[in-house]
Amino acid sequence: MTGNPADVFAPAKLGPITLRNRLIKAATFEGRTPEALVSDDLIEFHRRTAAGGVAMTTVAYCAVAPEGRTTRKQIWMRPEAVAGLRRLAEAVHAEGAAVSAQIGHAGPVANPASTRLPALGPSRRFNPLGMTATRAATRADIDRIVRAHAEAALLAAESGFDAVEVHLGHNYLVSAFLSPRLNRRGDEYGGGLAGRARLAREVTRAVRDAVGDRIAILAKLNMDDGVRGGLVPEESLQVAAWLEEDGSLDAIELTAGSSLLNPMYLFRGDAPLKDFAAVFPQPQRLGVRLLGGRLLRAYPYRDAYLLDDARAFRAALRTPLVLLGGITGAATMDLAMREGFAFAAMGRALLMEPDLPDRVRKDRTVVSACIHCNRCMPTTYRRTRCVLVE
Ligand SMILES: Cc1cc2nc3c(=O)[nH]c(=O)nc-3n(C[C@H](O)[C@H](O)[C@H](O)COP(=O)(O)O)c2cc1C
Ligand code: SF4
Repeated sequence: MTGNPADVFAPAKLGPITLRNRLIKAATFEGRTPEALVSDDLIEFHRRTAAGGVAMTTVAYCAVAPEGRTTRKQIWMRPEAVAGLRRLAEAVHAEGAAVSAQIGHAGPVANPASTRLPALGPSRRFNPLGMTATRAATRADIDRIVRAHAEAALLAAESGFDAVEVHLGHNYLVSAFLSPRLNRRGDEYGGGLAGRARLAREVTRAVRDAVGDRIAILAKLNMDDGVRGGLVPEESLQVAAWLEEDGSLDAIELTAGSSLLNPMYLFRGDAPLKDFAAVFPQPQRLGVRLLGGRLLRAYPYRDAYLLDDARAFRAALRTPLVLLGGITGAATMDLAMREGFAFAAMGRALLMEPDLPDRVRKDRTVVSACIHCNRCMPTTYRRTRCVLVE
């Protein structure tokens, strides 16, 4: 970077909108939608986050289709959802922040035992969550899901949202298509990278065509699946370059990991095996305790842990980028600005302390008290919370 780095608390443009600063609340599925619709509890969660000084909060997760949910208690975008989303947007705006909806399709990460609908993936695969096979998406499924992303974005705009974040990460459906390990298709949506990236490009293009410049469009893209045979940074960088060429996005938030095959790669820190097992009834509980150590393989935490990979994206792209992963206070926020990222996103730090941005703004020595125990992760099955404060 040349010149003075941006002040993280100065306003910034994100496509057609202006944010009051450069801090974004990352999507953390809130588990506060028992009827698959916005609840007062969900509104209060985002109102509190907005009141804490962040520029934009992200509602997670808004599935584009009923089978694309990790639980049937997740919102799926349909006209019935608009009234609640509108109330939520008004509550966030009243606190001076903007609001984004994370839209996507969980694909092989969906839980068919909960949604009571077959899970879809790029290719047929055994799904331990539903004890059934994930069905390979047909051409008709793909067309429907591309359209559903566009319709979901339109509903978000109609609900007064300022942005949508298209989920292209964590081996959710579009990310599963990007993965050479999960995508074994022989048609134009599989094979080489151009085929595997086709769905990501079509989905983001359809969203842009639907909403134009009415709202900002971000994508959350995996740099690295963190699994053998998965998407690697060199390929992801090419995907990001194609998305940039397409002109469908106002910003890209860089992430990593697979909710399906290697979830702790997203988070780093402790693997909360005991808490995770406790969520399940017997006999699954025993199974999770015995076998979960393999799935929940822990990775050491450090602040700004995705920066090394993200630097290569910053160097190669013009698109504004959002640095995510272990942003905890003024030092990492400033680092993100110095390294040329347009925004910094925080998940756990704001789940624990929604007022962290305001406190850091007033006192630059304030740092997140989150200890990366990741015990908030299994709380998503009931009602997402930081176990140390609630
Ligand atoms: C409880 C919890 C729920 C999450 N739910 C989502 C989600 O619905 N969608 C998503 O893309 N990421 C989700 N994430 C990942 C975060 O957005 C973020 O990528 C991750 O926590 C790393 O950022 P951090 O170090 O600031 O926490 C979740 C994280 C946590 C802790
Ligand atoms: S439970 Fe709280 S302290 Fe532990 S990782 Fe989650 S937010 Fe941080």
